[in-house]
Amino acid sequence: MPAPTPVKTSDGRLKMRDGNSIPQFGLGVYEMNDQEAYDSTRAALDAGYKHVDTAEWYENEEPCGRAINEWCKETGTPRSEIFLTSKLMHNKTYEQASADIRKSLKRAQVDTFDLYLMHSPIGGPEIRKNIWRALVDAKKEGLLKSIGVSNFGKKHIQEMIDQKVELPVVNQIDLHPFMRHPEIVEICEQNDIILEAWGPLARAMRFNHPSIQKISKAKGRDVGQIFLRWGLQHGFIIIPKSVNPKRIVSNSQLFDFELDADEMKELDGLDEYLVTDWDVVDVE
Ligand SMILES: NC(=O)c1ccc[n+]([C@@H]2O[C@H](COP(=O)([O-])OP(=O)(O)OC[C@H]3O[C@@H](n4cnc5c(N)ncnc54)[C@H](OP(=O)(O)O)[C@@H]3O)[C@@H](O)[C@H]2O)c1
Repeated sequence: MPAPTPVKTSDGRLKMRDGNSIPQFGLGVYEMNDQEAYDSTRAALDAGYKHVDTAEWYENEEPCGRAINEWCKETGTPRSEIFLTSKLMHNKTYEQASADIRKSLKRAQVDTFDLYLMHSPIGGPEIRKNIWRALVDAKKEGLLKSIGVSNFGKKHIQEMIDQKVELPVVNQIDLHPFMRHPEIVEICEQNDIILEAWGPLARAMRFNHPSIQKISKAKGRDVGQIFLRWGLQHGFIIIPKSVNPKRIVSNSQLFDFELDADEMKELDGLDEYLVTDWDVVDVE
């Protein structure tokens, strides 16, 4: 039976199992310093982005939150229209996670994160269970609207299913034509866990690949747009990172063309388990 694709709302958001919805497209801010994160967030909001993906790890929750707050004030946009995600850096104890969530909220100058993720499964089953409980409780307290995981492999998702705990709404993993993680995608789709693609551009490492170049020329679209359109058409959330104002705009121009079935099939055939950053989906 084919796995269900996420349901889209009329304004381009994906419905999550907890009743909330998430813009399918957003800005990633990994490896941006304060000024870059501030400027890129503002440029992205100007270009129509409604979703920013930061993390405790990136040390830029503060400039992202500040840019969003100031932009909303200046443009008269309700703050609730902009979706902000952050992630927990360390998996140690329930108390540590609860405290770190509060520190992140303070840094980002928000009362609640739209989405908050365990950044990785590192730590082993007992620690994962305690950290997840901290996220569930913070959600009950209203500090987090939706909760999810990142870099969880098939066995980590299966562990949560076996524990009969509340399942994450999202699993953010390394996903692009050169890294397709079919087993993780399958278990998530079967359990209504939306896939969020980090590194959706393969961090620009395969821009010269002949298939990518060919499809880019055939479509008259730039290479980045071909990568991103592939992710969108698979029903993944995509969060490309750029500090370049022109690329921030071009990376968002994705909704006026489509890859056809042959093009999708060719891109689907490029998987080479390309690790572009870290790979922790198999940790104990
Ligand atoms: N959960 C996790 O463990 C995890 C891990 C990594 C990333 N992430 C999240 O996912 C986001 C995206 O992933 P990523 O930043 O690793 O990689 P990415 O978005 O795949 O690629 C970013 C790289 O591509 C370049 N680039 C962007 N648009 C381009 C274009 N149109 N043409 C040519 N080059 C372009 C950027 O350079 P310029 O900035 O100079 O444009 C940067 O070097 C991150 O920012 C972060 O929010 C999460």
